Amino acid sequence: MSSADANAISRLEVELGARSYPIYIGRGLLADSELLGKYVDAASAFVVSNETVAPLYLDQLVKTAGLDPARSVVLADGEQYKNIASMQKIFDAMIAGQCDRGTTILALGGGVVGDMAGFAAACYQRGVRFVQFPTTLLAQVDSSVGGKTGVNHPLGKNMIGAFHQPGAVFIDTNTLDTLADREYRAGIAEVIKYGFIRDREFLQWLHENMARLLARDPDALRHAIMRSCACKAAVVADDETENGVRAILNFGHTFGHAIESATAYSALLHGEAVGLGMLMALDFCKRCGLIDAHDFESSRQLIEAAGLPVLLPHTVSSGKQLLRLMQHDKKVKRGRVRLVLLKSLGEAFITGEYSDELLEELLESYVSQV
Ligand SMILES: NC(=O)c1ccc[n+]([C@@H]2O[C@H](COP(=O)([O-])OP(=O)(O)OC[C@H]3O[C@@H](n4cnc5c(N)ncnc54)[C@H](O)[C@@H]3O)[C@@H](O)[C@H]2O)c1
Ligand SMILES: [Zn+2]
Repeated sequence: MSSADANAISRLEVELGARSYPIYIGRGLLADSELLGKYVDAASAFVVSNETVAPLYLDQLVKTAGLDPARSVVLADGEQYKNIASMQKIFDAMIAGQCDRGTTILALGGGVVGDMAGFAAACYQRGVRFVQFPTTLLAQVDSSVGGKTGVNHPLGKNMIGAFHQPGAVFIDTNTLDTLADREYRAGIAEVIKYGFIRDREFLQWLHENMARLLARDPDALRHAIMRSCACKAAVVADDETENGVRAILNFGHTFGHAIESATAYSALLHGEAVGLGMLMALDFCKRCGLIDAHDFESSRQLIEAAGLPVLLPHTVSSGKQLLRLMQHDKKVKRGRVRLVLLKSLGEAFITGEYSDELLEELLESYVSQV
């Protein structure tokens, strides 16, 4: 790929009939007034961002799209602010800014901002349009696409929300220049996930290009984001509201959520817990005879090469605790934990049929490594 390609803009489509929308991927999209102008009407736009991202990119978006800077709200930064109180702040600011049903909300930030801005768009005057400007790798490859929006409740993550698809997604890969390394690697975990669940060829590409990706090489990054978004878009188009196949996107997440919960969401970033969760899921596939030792070992090496943790945090002390937490996951159906497993690398399926004994053995073996 030539360096001229690195400056090109790629476009993908999320095919959802009347709710279809484009995903644009490229360097410097936040400065592209012609393209933004097609999707953002300056007079009716309202920006939701946070105190970290706004100082970095809000001025640029305001200038490029010709927005009124007063029509925006800047929220506190952090998952702990992904709650109803922040929603109230968004609604207060929108009402003060005289937003109406013709308003388009622009979400400028990571997954936390995107989920809240999207939920505000689903609710405000029974629903307004919104456009995503994701600025973390995780948001660019995962949360900005697919229309899941919402906030946390003190008793559970993402408990309050709605399906509400954006009108467009603008992925300006330049925004990743300011993203912390740890956040970046956490995003790579979700990128690798797409290879495992649906795209063996991409998995091979990741093996060959992980060093370039970690160095944030623009061509490699764009390819990785394209393949990830294409995969997410295809799964979402098949099953918009997660009645079936969309659940494969949760590969590694049932284990990962249990780890996050066992460590009170403080030891690991979500992507790090997912990396470890995928490792455990792959190990389980090996123990169940679904994949062989060679495929498991190369997968483990890929996760490790991405700089993701492969050992549980010290504070996780019992396999039984993890099992209990897994049973509280949203994916439980009639008391049975349904797991996303692989038939082979690049092909996921969802099942409640597996040996509990093997699962307990697996969990104990990871706890005993700590
Ligand atoms: N809706 C979905 O389908 C979906 C999917 C996956 C995750 N999520 C949600 O996404 C959230 C996690 O998203 P996240 O990982 O993006 O976390 P985040 O939004 O908290 O961002 C991580 C950190 O990076 C900062 N940041 C963002 N962009 C930056 C930039 N360009 N430069 C410097 N710093 C920047 C943020 O302010 C924050 O401190 C969770 O709440 C999760 O539930 C939603
Ligand atoms: Zn995830």
